[in-house]
Amino acid sequence: MAGSAREVTIAIVGCGGMGNRHLRGLAEYARHVEGLPGYPKFRVVAACDPNDRNVNLLADAAAQAFRSRPRPFATVDALLEAFPRLDSVDITTEPRLHATIATRFLDAGVHVLVEKPMALTVSQCNAMDRAAKRAGRVLCVAENYRFDPLVRLTRALLDVGAIGMPTLLLDHSVGSGGRIVITPWRHKRLYGGTLLDVGVHNVDLMAYYLGRIETVNAKVALLDKVRHGLRSQGPTGPGVAESPGAIYAVTNANLAVEDTVAPDVEDTALATLELAGGTLGHWTLSHAGHGASFGHKAIYGTGGSMEPAPPRTGSGPTVRVDGSAAPLDIVAQLALVPDFAVDAATARLFGGVRLGAYHLEAIDIDRKIQAAVFADFGNAIAIGRPPEVGADEGRHAVAVVNALFESSRLARPVSVSDVEAEVPAVSGWQADLDRDLAAK
Ligand SMILES: NC(=O)c1ccc[n+]([C@@H]2O[C@H](COP(=O)([O-])OP(=O)(O)OC[C@H]3O[C@@H](n4cnc5c(N)ncnc54)[C@H](O)[C@@H]3O)[C@@H](O)[C@H]2O)c1
Repeated sequence: MAGSAREVTIAIVGCGGMGNRHLRGLAEYARHVEGLPGYPKFRVVAACDPNDRNVNLLADAAAQAFRSRPRPFATVDALLEAFPRLDSVDITTEPRLHATIATRFLDAGVHVLVEKPMALTVSQCNAMDRAAKRAGRVLCVAENYRFDPLVRLTRALLDVGAIGMPTLLLDHSVGSGGRIVITPWRHKRLYGGTLLDVGVHNVDLMAYYLGRIETVNAKVALLDKVRHGLRSQGPTGPGVAESPGAIYAVTNANLAVEDTVAPDVEDTALATLELAGGTLGHWTLSHAGHGASFGHKAIYGTGGSMEPAPPRTGSGPTVRVDGSAAPLDIVAQLALVPDFAVDAATARLFGGVRLGAYHLEAIDIDRKIQAAVFADFGNAIAIGRPPEVGADEGRHAVAVVNALFESSRLARPVSVSDVEAEVPAVSGWQADLDRDLAAK
C-alpha cells in the first residue's frame, strides 16, 4: 500500500450518481469503520470522468469531505500515468465499460471494486476474473443490498430453519411505466437494460438466501416503446444536495442527457426458476407498470412463511410459523437465532450487533450501506481474504439475468450452468451482445 501499511489509495472512476453516492459511503466509512482491526484507511487521490463538470463536482465534494482534493482526470490512461502505484480503484461508470476499465486496472496491479452489474455478459465477467487471478488482486462487486443488517437477520432465520425447508420463492415487482429509470442509458441494449441493471440485485438476494439459481424458464418483452420524465426527477440546483435523487438531478444535467428515450431492450420478464436445494421460484420484474406499482417478495417453507427484510428501509423480515396466527415479533425472531451477530463494521455503521429494526433517514441508510461495501473491499485487501461478493457471485447474477433472455429466445427452459460456462452451451443473446459490443 502506497502510504502507511494501513492506508489504501483509491481512485473513483465514473463521477455520476453512483460515484457521488460512493464518495459519501467512503466518508461514512472514515467516520465509523476506519481504525477497526482489519479495516484500512482509504485515501481518495484521484477522480476520473470524461465529463469535466462531473469530475470536478466529485473532486469538490471529496475536498469538502476529506479536506484534500483528489486530482481530476478525463481518462484512465492519464490517471494511471500520474498514479502508477495506485492501490485501488472504485469503478462507477455505466456497466458497458466495467470489463474494459476493470481489466485495465487489474493488469496494472490495482485492486478493483466495481459497481453491479459486474459486466454485461459472462465472457466479460470471465475476462475480469482472469485478470484478477493473474494479478493476484482483489476483485469485488459492489452489491450493497445483502449488507443491510436486516437482510443478514433474514438469512440467519432461514439458516436455522425458522420456516422449515424453503420450498417456494415469490419475487414480484412492477412499476416505472413510461418513465425513464434514473438515466436514459438504462434503456439501451448495449448498456445492459433495466432488467440487468435491477435484476442482478434480485438474483444476488435470491442466491444469498437460498443458493444458486439452476434453471430459468422465461419470457421477456419490451412493453414501453417510449419513456419520458428525466427533468422532473428530483430538485435541481448549483450544488449536489444530499439525496440520491438530487445528486442525479445535478449529474444528469451536467451530462445533458435527453428527457425522452426510445428503449431498444426488453423491460419486462416473467420467469419460473429452480434453485439449488429444490426451491421453486416465480419472478416478475417489469419497469413497464403504469398506474399502481406493485412489489411482493415471499419465501414459503415446510414450517411457515417469510417476507424477507426489504433492503435499505430499516424494517426487518416478517415471519409466520405454522400454528401461530400473528407474525413473530422482533424479540421472538432474535430468540430463534442466538448466534446471530453482524460483523464489526456493520455493527458500527448501523449501531448494533443484533438489530431487528433500525430507524434512519433514507440518505443515512444509503451512506451506511455504501460504507459497508467499502468495508468488505477494504477488509479483503487488508487481510488477503476473498471479498464476500466477488467474481463468482457477480458473474452468477449476470448469468441468471442473461438466462432470462436466452430462455425467451429459445422458448424453453435453460440451465444457468450452460449460460455461465467458460464455453457456454447456450449463447445467442450473449453472443450477439459480445459481438455488437466489440464492434462498437
Ligand atoms: N447498487 C445500487 O444501488 C446502484 C444504484 C445506482 C447505480 N448503480 C450502478 O452504478 C453504475 C453507475 O451508474 P450511475 O447511475 O451512477 O450512472 P451515471 O450515468 O449517473 O454515471 C456514470 C458516469 O460515468 C461516466 N463515464 C462514462 N465513460 C467514462 C469513462 N470512460 N471513464 C470514466 N467515467 C466515465 C459518465 O460521464 C458519468 O458521469 C452502474 O453500474 C449502475 O448499475 C448501482
